[in-house]
Amino acid sequence: MKRESGMQDDKVSLVEMGPRDGLQNEANALPLIQRLELIARLVESGLQRIEVGAFVSPRRVPQMADSAELFKALPRKGPTRYGALVPNLQGLQAAIAARADEIGLFTACSDGFTRANIGIGVEESLVRFAPLVQEARRLGIKVRGYLSTVIACPFDGPTRPKRVAAMAERLLDLGCHEISLGDTIGVGTPGTVAPMLDAVLHEIPAGRLAVHFHDTYGQGLANLLPALERGIRTIDCSVAGLGGCPYAPGASGNVASEEVIYLLHGLGMSTGVDLDKLAATGQWVSERLGRPNGSRVGQALHANAERLRMRLCQSSSH
Ligand code: HMG
Ligand code: MG
Repeated sequence: MKRESGMQDDKVSLVEMGPRDGLQNEANALPLIQRLELIARLVESGLQRIEVGAFVSPRRVPQMADSAELFKALPRKGPTRYGALVPNLQGLQAAIAARADEIGLFTACSDGFTRANIGIGVEESLVRFAPLVQEARRLGIKVRGYLSTVIACPFDGPTRPKRVAAMAERLLDLGCHEISLGDTIGVGTPGTVAPMLDAVLHEIPAGRLAVHFHDTYGQGLANLLPALERGIRTIDCSVAGLGGCPYAPGASGNVASEEVIYLLHGLGMSTGVDLDKLAATGQWVSERLGRPNGSRVGQALHANAERLRMRLCQSSSH
């Protein structure tokens, strides 16, 4: 059954994943004060949707353990909406107490990954989510549905496009306002992403979909093109390409936000984000984490800024 769309064509909404999907998989945990600074900088660069934390088991993902404290200290004045991942009722209650603007429930197309990630199978996860969606919606909290392994599962192998479409419909029918289609292990290419999107778009309008590409094989940016061509205008991305999923062996971070914005602006599309400010933040957080900057655009802009700084230093010393 087709549902209503309603997105404007040249505007793209970015959902920044760095503080959650990014930091959940970094070996060096960023202290709370620096996570807050990261978020303040992301807000300052113009990002209006940021997933900042996860109310999950601290034993499973220690990097997200202080999400409740983080939410308490967020800058709340502007238009930015803050999201949190929630796996169960305990997580929902914590997200409500933390005044999360949006929650993300997460399941997958495959049982293997779902069991590794949240300890139950796909069908059980949908049964668990139904009352959570109802309760969140009753309180006016938007619910995003993450659907992982849309191209392949690290345990169960390739996913059929029709399976993705059926699962996305079921999440929408539960009451999710948007479905984020996750290539969790980043194995897709436009050759596999396009038929997957066609199958989903046969059932669901582009305005209710987001794409969530991990960049493990360097295909994240290329995979955005079939999504954009098909009218999808919500893109998940991670500053400096931070992160990955600790329960998806070998997965690297989301496609870097700087790369996505450079591409979109180059295509004449608008994002509302100041690329220079964001790139400076990507460099800043990479240095804090002691890792190379995972964004090529970020590296290039940083090198340009450094060259300019050197020239200014030289000319002021003459
Ligand atoms: P469990 O251990 O299987 O079972 O956890 P449990 O329900 O019996 O709970 C055991 C312990 O966890 C108990 O504590 C609970 O209180 C505690 P104990 O009594 O032993 O001290 N607990 C919790 N603590 C805090 N918050 C909670 C919570 N629930 C239980 N909400 C559970 C089941 C689902 C909690 C666990 O498996 C879990 O936290 N999984 C989350 C894993 C995760 O965060 N993965 C990464 C995010 S998903 C992702 O990155 C993919 C995505 O980006 C899309 C894509 O790329 O495709 C979204
Ligand atoms: Mg992810």
